[in-house]
Amino acid sequence: MTARILDGIALSRTIRAEVAERAAALTARGTRPGLAVILVGDSAASAVYVRNKIRACTEADIHSVFDHMPADTTEADLLARIRELNADPAVHGILVQLPLPPHIDERLVIETIAPAKDVDGFHLQNAGGLLTGTPLFRPCTPYGVMKLLEHAGARLDGAEAVIVGRSNIVGKPQALMLMQGGATVTICHSRTRDLAFHTRRADILVAAVGRPKMITGDMIKPGAIVVDVGINRIEEGPDAGKLCGDVDFASAVEVAGAITPVPGGVGPMTIAMLLVNTVEAARRFAG
Ligand code: GUN
Repeated sequence: MTARILDGIALSRTIRAEVAERAAALTARGTRPGLAVILVGDSAASAVYVRNKIRACTEADIHSVFDHMPADTTEADLLARIRELNADPAVHGILVQLPLPPHIDERLVIETIAPAKDVDGFHLQNAGGLLTGTPLFRPCTPYGVMKLLEHAGARLDGAEAVIVGRSNIVGKPQALMLMQGGATVTICHSRTRDLAFHTRRADILVAAVGRPKMITGDMIKPGAIVVDVGINRIEEGPDAGKLCGDVDFASAVEVAGAITPVPGGVGPMTIAMLLVNTVEAARRFAG
């Protein structure tokens, strides 16, 4: 038995079509949703992510502003730009692509974004809101994973969910969302002693560590739903230059009940949920 493939491209297309309809309705009422994206520096990977986000806005007829700032931008200049965007009525969502150059305090940057425009859901107010069940916005990647699980018909209530990775962007918010859904959640990370012991217990396994093909088929419970958040570029060998996830797809697909591919799984969902959050921000702004 090989696993069912959870197609993030198809689901994201459906969601983006709904977003485009909502955006058009808001525009007709006088509020065209707008997203500002700031990229600081020259990371090739970040540039690709940002380009995809802008393109998705264009396709949904959402207004977008793209600020590409040089790598030596001062923290003060970046904060000043964010304050301008906070005050701009044509901009309902602000996204600063992470990571930032090391001379810039990432936390300070995130806290400068108005919480009502924080479509990444990274501001302390939104992080705290997620913890207590009342966020204005949910972080896009774990939110997209929840939509994929819902679409797959996954039963969360009482399920054993194991997340590998404890980042603020994915691991921690994912744990909160799955717990909210009724799952019993375990978070594993680089210091976890016997990773396979935990992963083999998972009905739902989310891999978000950034280590290529780290989760192999023998670490997966037969029939589990496996969600691969990793996007890694293969460095050497015959597949050099191609993308792969944190899950070794070839062995995992033989054991899992359902699995997301890389690319084409979680990645497109992140972008779809960014648009969902942006249109929701605009809807609140329109009142
Ligand atoms: N870097 C990696 N993922 C993300 C994300 O979801 N949002 C932002 N702003 N930066 C990221």
